[in-house]
Amino acid sequence: MTDPLPPIQSDLPIKQVLRPDGTLDEPLPQELEPLLQAYQQGQMTLESLMQAVQDRLGHLPDRWMRHVAVQAGMTRLQLQRWITLHPEWRTHPPGRHVIRVCRAESCTDEGSARIMAGLEQWLHLEADHTTADGKLSLETVYCLGHCEGAAVVALDDVIHHQMDVDQTLARVKCWLREIEGKEEPTA
Ligand code: FES
Repeated sequence: MTDPLPPIQSDLPIKQVLRPDGTLDEPLPQELEPLLQAYQQGQMTLESLMQAVQDRLGHLPDRWMRHVAVQAGMTRLQLQRWITLHPEWRTHPPGRHVIRVCRAESCTDEGSARIMAGLEQWLHLEADHTTADGKLSLETVYCLGHCEGAAVVALDDVIHHQMDVDQTLARVKCWLREIEGKEEPTA
């Protein structure tokens, strides 16, 4: 289903969010309401609701997921478990740049576990975490739709086919140099 709703703007008026016990607590962007209504009216599945929120906010903020859980008739814990079954969804904001390593079957068969381990070691960054300065996230994904090119690694939006550990590290080093050249120096 195509989604005609505009992106959420963070400076728009806010409403209150339900706590799991039904009391009101934290602010909710008003623009989330049409999504929740569409879900309540059966026009969206829970999965498409989550995708729409992530498309707008970049991740699924925990405080708003409580409200979604109430609407979905689930406990917060049930919803959290459900979210973890979808590794493409983020519960925290991503870094400004993202390395994604495919761990679905074709890429795993071609050594993507070794690629991820090599990146973790070289970057000193655990899979599915972001550096403290928010610059870089290292993410596991399950199929990027390029299975014929396994093993597949994405550096931001650029897909790299037939990677092994050495090729991946060489490309990542190059890519990081390019990024550092483009980023504003921090004060
Ligand atoms: S299995 Fe890795 S891109 Fe599909």
